[in-house]
Amino acid sequence: MSADRAKGIILIGAPGSGKGTQAKKLKEQLGYAHISTGDLLRAAVKAGTELGVKAKGFMDEGQLVPDDLMIALLEEELAGPAASQGFLLDGFPRTMPQAQALDASVTIDKVVDIQVPFELIEERITGRRMSPSGHVYHVKYSPPQADGVCDKTGEALYQRSDDTPQKVQARLGKFDSETRPVIAHYQGKGVVVGVDGVGDPDEIFTRIMAVL
Ligand code: AP5
Ligand code: MG
Repeated sequence: MSADRAKGIILIGAPGSGKGTQAKKLKEQLGYAHISTGDLLRAAVKAGTELGVKAKGFMDEGQLVPDDLMIALLEEELAGPAASQGFLLDGFPRTMPQAQALDASVTIDKVVDIQVPFELIEERITGRRMSPSGHVYHVKYSPPQADGVCDKTGEALYQRSDDTPQKVQARLGKFDSETRPVIAHYQGKGVVVGVDGVGDPDEIFTRIMAVL
């Protein structure tokens, strides 16, 4: 993996903690590249690429996609505009081998740990609705104006295949076993800032900006 020195921020947190929601706001404010491995994988699945075919089964079951595939994907992304623009990582690294591969090539300035109690996660995830263009809604917290239709594009909204209560439990299990050690790893480097991820998204954004 190789990339020039550019500001690098990791957004880390449980599934549904608001990484994607906050990354979009931060991208607007800071102009950094937003690298969401989940979005990249979903696009690969939709396009039927080799990566998409390999990743689909893992994603549908709420399991992690193998490290070698994820590290190669990141390598490609970091060689793009992220290298000069700065980057926000959303969904990577989520295992220790991924963190080690990342550290070997770039310096991470801050790791923003978005903290949301697990009791709130299921409601957030099962209520999420997406438009094919990537706009994200929540049936209770940020509903579209017309039921099931994207405000911005008029497209029909859909639910992610891994957004079921059963898959949420599998994903939370992986977060505990694989991703908590990554947070501890960066705590050891002194770059982790914890942010309360409960409340209005704009308030959470203000909290994040205050610690960056
Ligand atoms: P990925 O897409 O990264 O999913 P995730 O980590 O499970 O996170 P989510 O996207 O579900 O949640 P989020 O934190 O972005 O929350 P959001 O802002 O949308 O990964 C999917 C899969 O891909 C993985 O399971 C794995 O298979 C694979 N994968 C990806 N990266 C990988 C890697 N590095 N290694 C291996 N495998 C990998 O918010 C959620 C909902 O809540 C939305 O409806 C939103 O509107 C709402 N919401 C947000 N903020 C608030 C708030 N403050 N109050 C109320 N509602 C809110
Ligand atoms: Mg996301």
